[in-house]
Amino acid sequence: MTGVRRRGKHLGFSCRARFAILCDESPVGEAAVLEHVVDEQADSVHLVLVSRPRLEEWLAGCDDGMRRWCRSANFTAEAGAVCLVPGAEGVLAEVLVGTGDDDDPWLFGHLPAKLPPATYRIDHIPGARSANWAAIGWMLATYVFGRYKARNGRTWPRLEWPRTADRPLVERIVAATTLVRDMVNTPAADMGPGDLVAAAQQLAARHDAALRVIVGEGLLAEGYPCIHAVGRAAAHARQPRLIDLSWGAPTAPKVTLVGKGVCFDSGGLDIKPSAGMKLMKKDMAGAAHVLGLAAMIMDAALPVRLRVLIPAVENAVSGDAMRPLDVLRTRKGISVEIGNTDAEGRLILADCLWEAGRERPDLLIDIATLTGAARTALGPDLPALFANDDALAADLLEAGAEQSDPMWRLPLHKGYRRLLDSKVADLSSVSDGPHAGAITAALFLQEFVPPGVKWAHLDIMGWNTGARPGRPDGGEAMGLRALYALVQRRFA
Ligand code: BES
Ligand code: MN
Ligand code: ZN
Repeated sequence: MTGVRRRGKHLGFSCRARFAILCDESPVGEAAVLEHVVDEQADSVHLVLVSRPRLEEWLAGCDDGMRRWCRSANFTAEAGAVCLVPGAEGVLAEVLVGTGDDDDPWLFGHLPAKLPPATYRIDHIPGARSANWAAIGWMLATYVFGRYKARNGRTWPRLEWPRTADRPLVERIVAATTLVRDMVNTPAADMGPGDLVAAAQQLAARHDAALRVIVGEGLLAEGYPCIHAVGRAAAHARQPRLIDLSWGAPTAPKVTLVGKGVCFDSGGLDIKPSAGMKLMKKDMAGAAHVLGLAAMIMDAALPVRLRVLIPAVENAVSGDAMRPLDVLRTRKGISVEIGNTDAEGRLILADCLWEAGRERPDLLIDIATLTGAARTALGPDLPALFANDDALAADLLEAGAEQSDPMWRLPLHKGYRRLLDSKVADLSSVSDGPHAGAITAALFLQEFVPPGVKWAHLDIMGWNTGARPGRPDGGEAMGLRALYALVQRRFA
């Protein structure tokens, strides 16, 4: 067993590179993205926001030239539409931006791709929420996963920080989102269990957090049999690990985050068909989310004792792989019969939830790309929320609505618990039938959460299946802003 104890000191990264923990080769993600919103400039081009209902009224107040220009350019103030307006000297003087009929927080996500490189200033200082969203949408729209491209190409336009924006909060959100995107987008070959450890180490060093990593056979010695069983089929260099990060005053309220870190999910011996396997580099999205959320919490120095547990494994195929109907011992001590080797996430989370529950945290949250069934129920964009506490669920839904980071609650319906009964073991890892797969997975997890511990489970997609303004296709943070807002509201 290799137990590593690390206590880093602050490495003095500049604010712009705060969470850029991925690779030292190219300036991917965050560092680049944060540069696209800047301090005030002398020669900024003004952005004039016009809503569709107010367009005619607004045109009435303009001179004839402007009215003719808008008509001939067919500017109808649709959300995200832009109209470049030349000045007397024949250079870009201002830009009209349509805001459509309602308030879309992602409005500014339309703009970087549509505007020529220059620095832009919002004409009328918007309220704090809109100001935050202008900067968030703008920066996140300039995200490109450039790690494997010879040149990142494009020069993006820049936005001046709207004066009313909560700049530290916005930077935290953008940096953490970018971290999640980068980690999820990184191919499995370069984002194995050891790479998840490296990401956690950099984060721990930056925030002076304690980090313990249990590797390979050490997992058996230390009592994490499920993490070992799921990860043991992988190559030696990619053997399973448990990442255990802690930070903050020991006396502060305890917040524990658990993130599914399956670096590639082949399905194991119950191997996935190619279409289902294709995206499975993203099966560590839960791990990326808890690192992003931890980065936000530590950066804001929220008054909590934070613990992050990440089971980092590859669900691989080999002669040593766990088999259907094998029976595993769990950290809790109960036995689990493996109904399907592709239901690996719940097994590794079970050991972590039980370990987390040991110290009775004030809040326990897990995030996982756990089931296809959650996606069938809610589609790609809505995380399924499960919680054993109604107030916690209500607070999270409210935070999600407020942060434009929606999720949808599904029930921990006790009546379905019998679907996890096993003839051989204390518990089956799956239900035999085709129904309620997201619920039975959540009920499985609940078996490992001590009663009385407030627990929320997010079953997420972690991936945009198509591009929208501010949200390019590929890896995506889902539920991150809502969770941060919840932790902040409950404990700060
Ligand atoms: N990582 C998958 C779940 C997944 C699949 C999430 C596709 C998002 C998109 C998970 O490990 C898995 O394979 N789950 C199985 C469980 C089944 C075997 C009970 C599933 O959902 O099919
Ligand atoms: Mn699986
Ligand atoms: Zn999986």
